[in-house]
Amino acid sequence: MDPVPKSSPDSQDKQDPSSEQVKCTWDGVKTLDPEQLNPVPKYEFNKPPHKQPNPGPIDHDIQVLTSKLTLKQKIGQMTQLHVGMLMDSNGELDVKAVKYWIDDWGVGSFLETPSNRGGKYLFYSAKQYSMVTDAVQKLALEYGPRIPVIWGLDSVRGANYVKGAVIFPAGIATAATFNPSFAYDAGRIAAKDTRAAGVHWAFAPISDLTVNKLWPRVYENFGEDPYLSSKMTTASISGYQGDYKSDRSRVAACVKHFIGYGSPVDGQDRSNRYIAKHELLEYHVPPFKAAIDAGVATAMESYGVINGVPVVTSQYYLQELLREQLGFNGMLVTDWGEINGQATMYYTAKDISQATMATLNRTSVDMSMVAEDGSFGQTMLDLVNNGYISEARIDESVARILQLKKDLGLLSHPFTDPDLMATVGSAQDVEVARNAVRESVTLLKNKDGVLPLKSTERILYIGPTLNSTRYMGGGWNVRSQGPTDEVGDSVYEGFGDTILGGIEKVTGAAPLYFEGTDIHGSELIDIESIIEAAKLADKIVVGLGETSYAEYRGNIGNMRLPQNQLNLVYTVASASCKPIVVVLVEGRPRILDNVANVADGIVQAYLPGTYGGLPIAEILFGKVNPSGRLPYTYPASESQASTTIWQPSFSTYNPQWAFGFGLGYSHIEYSNIAVTSTTLKVGQPITVSLNVKNNGPYAQKETVLLLTNQEYRFDMAPEHMRLRDFVKVDLAVGETRQISFQLSAEQMGFWDTTLKKRIEPSPLNIYISPYTQANITTQVQLDVDPDLVLAQAS
Ligand code: BGC
Repeated sequence: MDPVPKSSPDSQDKQDPSSEQVKCTWDGVKTLDPEQLNPVPKYEFNKPPHKQPNPGPIDHDIQVLTSKLTLKQKIGQMTQLHVGMLMDSNGELDVKAVKYWIDDWGVGSFLETPSNRGGKYLFYSAKQYSMVTDAVQKLALEYGPRIPVIWGLDSVRGANYVKGAVIFPAGIATAATFNPSFAYDAGRIAAKDTRAAGVHWAFAPISDLTVNKLWPRVYENFGEDPYLSSKMTTASISGYQGDYKSDRSRVAACVKHFIGYGSPVDGQDRSNRYIAKHELLEYHVPPFKAAIDAGVATAMESYGVINGVPVVTSQYYLQELLREQLGFNGMLVTDWGEINGQATMYYTAKDISQATMATLNRTSVDMSMVAEDGSFGQTMLDLVNNGYISEARIDESVARILQLKKDLGLLSHPFTDPDLMATVGSAQDVEVARNAVRESVTLLKNKDGVLPLKSTERILYIGPTLNSTRYMGGGWNVRSQGPTDEVGDSVYEGFGDTILGGIEKVTGAAPLYFEGTDIHGSELIDIESIIEAAKLADKIVVGLGETSYAEYRGNIGNMRLPQNQLNLVYTVASASCKPIVVVLVEGRPRILDNVANVADGIVQAYLPGTYGGLPIAEILFGKVNPSGRLPYTYPASESQASTTIWQPSFSTYNPQWAFGFGLGYSHIEYSNIAVTSTTLKVGQPITVSLNVKNNGPYAQKETVLLLTNQEYRFDMAPEHMRLRDFVKVDLAVGETRQISFQLSAEQMGFWDTTLKKRIEPSPLNIYISPYTQANITTQVQLDVDPDLVLAQAS
């Protein structure tokens, strides 16, 4: 067995999900990066190319380079280790360890941030980070195969591990904007800030379909709808990658997690999923297909098992489906420790040798995110030397890895570009993030126009999420779990705001605030004083929500918000009888119980990121008109955890709030819906048009959604509704715009149980923004041959 120098405390997050959280001494201690950041306020960036580059084919020089490597060096290129294995116990780069992995084993890739080592809580600026990555790169050019390493980072919402880089709203909030340009911008800014740290590869976008809302990874993704998620995924990849083969301010994107990760049967992270093949193709695959069509350079397979079959060793998922049917030519990496996990966690292999052999021989996995031990190298050497894995199979993966390194410019320019560092945290980026929040915040309830608040009103502010940057950031912000309780907001040191801070900026006065209860709802605090203050107030704003978490550490058994958070609202409402506005800062839709009735106003802020405070305040005070729409179905009860807008139409769809729901302050009317033909036939798309009018009193960004439903579908239950298109338009007060959508019969194609994509004839209902105040409906006849096969899968 190879020596295992050390393991990083941060990576303990990734081990046995069932183990108790270990309390580590480094949690409470922080050593701030002494680097003073002074970014340029504005900078120019390269626009995306007209045609997105695609991964592959393999160049001749890369084939030659591959052939010159020894077997051990080739296996090294396929190995990815956590940076913790390169750091000493003082948090410094351990040059001996770097040499060992690169020279002895030819390791070709590292991941993550060296943030927590040896009792220190580090949060590196791009400059400090690049000192680590460049030092490793220098050693990689001197030792082993002398090939630069490729470094991967979870820059999933901005370069969230780089100090000072702007942390964007989580994917779920980006989806709520229904404006893919924000996915593009977050990607492009994340790319440059990641690259400024000497890292070339971002493990994003996250395109899992979030079916089960208990799942702690809901917030990372673009919601429950395949079409919306596909649109966001495409834009995001364009942002991250741009012209990544020549633009050195971009990175390789990594669409993840392939596939079906978002339907855990019990809502717990990495649980089993039961997904029939045709349902997988219909709902889970489209965002990944969109990623591949957008030229995504790399992909990550998903943790766990589907229908009892492990994804990482599945020939169907990772060879037939991903490579042959979807045509992915890029580089495929495993998720964290997934190969060894077959033997140690899922019991689907007798040992890591069997797991490694199955992965390599059945699938197209190119790189193993091992990530914390050196076992992969020796295991692979033994398997190849004993004839269990062919060297040709290894060559195939190594060529893809080296081609990626070449495409990213690593072979010619392995070191960090200092010019990029000056742009990290630019005011220009902060404004983009704030604009994304301005368009994502979703107004769910506004009884009697309780919102917007007026500056003349006396407002009392209570609740744990109003005064926290950390909770607005959530997970994958500073570290995977977000800052610890001990470090809290102090780690941002000027790189963010709070909702209270935003309110002070908007109103010019310090808000009257009581916490009321902590985020866990441990107890009600200062409740007598709060009641006294509430009696004197005109309105009360309560910030509720979730603490920061990521992956299995965010598992919950109960979807309700902590009881004392709910009690805070009940107590103050009944004692004061004043109008209450609830602001939700939450990664997944937590059940609100009677708070949904008691509150007069409800504002969903999702996880807006660390600059969310000002835009939320602007929305509360009507400086900005809310225009976000729910990218998921908000459950009313636990039984609706997996309710989606696309569930079979015979099931009751009666959630707390429907997919696509969201209010604005203005009054929007839809009228004159018309179709160019009432018959929809293959090859003859129709146009659906309508007028959208802003009857005032505010300018409004209006998202117009087109959904369809088949009245019946022989042999395959039709969905309640499917999103087919959307557009977001600016409407001045009094303005009317005509909106047109193209609709084709082919869009009504669905995968049947024989894995044929077909269309069934039936009346087709067309809904424009259903579940909103303006909704309007029409019907056409879907006139098609049910035997026509649009596509065939296996
Ligand atoms: C997560 C991935 C992430 C990887 C590296 C895994 O636990 O599932 O999304 O990219 O860790 O941090």
